[in-house]
Amino acid sequence: MASRRLLLLIVFLFSPLFFASPSSALAPKVSLALYYETLCPYCSNFMVNYLPKIFENGLISIVDLDLIPYGNAKIRSNGTISCQHGPDECLLNTVEACAISEWPDLSVHFSFIYCVEKLVAEHKHLEWESCFSKVGLDSQNVMDCYSNGYGKKLELQYAAQTDSLQPPHRYVPWVVVDGQPLYDDYQDFEAYICKAYKGDLPKACDGLVLKMNQERKVNRNVCYDNKMISSI
Ligand SMILES: *[C@@H]1O[C@H](CO)[C@@H](O)[C@H](O)[C@H]1NC(C)=O
Repeated sequence: MASRRLLLLIVFLFSPLFFASPSSALAPKVSLALYYETLCPYCSNFMVNYLPKIFENGLISIVDLDLIPYGNAKIRSNGTISCQHGPDECLLNTVEACAISEWPDLSVHFSFIYCVEKLVAEHKHLEWESCFSKVGLDSQNVMDCYSNGYGKKLELQYAAQTDSLQPPHRYVPWVVVDGQPLYDDYQDFEAYICKAYKGDLPKACDGLVLKMNQERKVNRNVCYDNKMISSI
């Protein structure tokens, strides 16, 4: 009798392990890192037409998203930063870095960055300051961050992070899922996220199958690192 009770107790204590959803609470989120530069048209296209899908379909609940606005920029020998698409790109990279720092909440800084990149996609990036009022955020701290040098410090940190990528990035957008770059398949990032996740898959993963890229052709939907081009 006693052993039967003990058995029931054991079954009771362990039943959550069998009946509750096994892993969703325990499975770590999938890390999704986007290395980009603000004026590369393929980056803005990805950020405006692809990336926002995970906020709409709920995939964001299993994702840790990091935005790294630096891309193919370089540090000159005198310590200044040179950007692939010129000074406007350096300005916007820094402004977006400041936005991430000022509003650490992803949904807040992404709303601002999405607004800026949408303007980039519409060839209206000079109107970027309109994004503060469009998304209802105060501009003061981001503008201060840009002008007082803190933004430059953030950019140097992003430079170090980008330049230490293994394998090194060859172009942007450079999308990395759990440490693995997606190369030309970056537009299928959702399928890679679902494949990497160890817990119960959310509904958004239904029907997402990886179509493996058979031919590794030259991807025309990226901004190549100049250095790589000149060394080919
Ligand atoms: C750094 O070098 C660049 C190009 O070589 C030059 O245009 C710029 O004025 C220099 N800036 C400073 C602060 O020395």
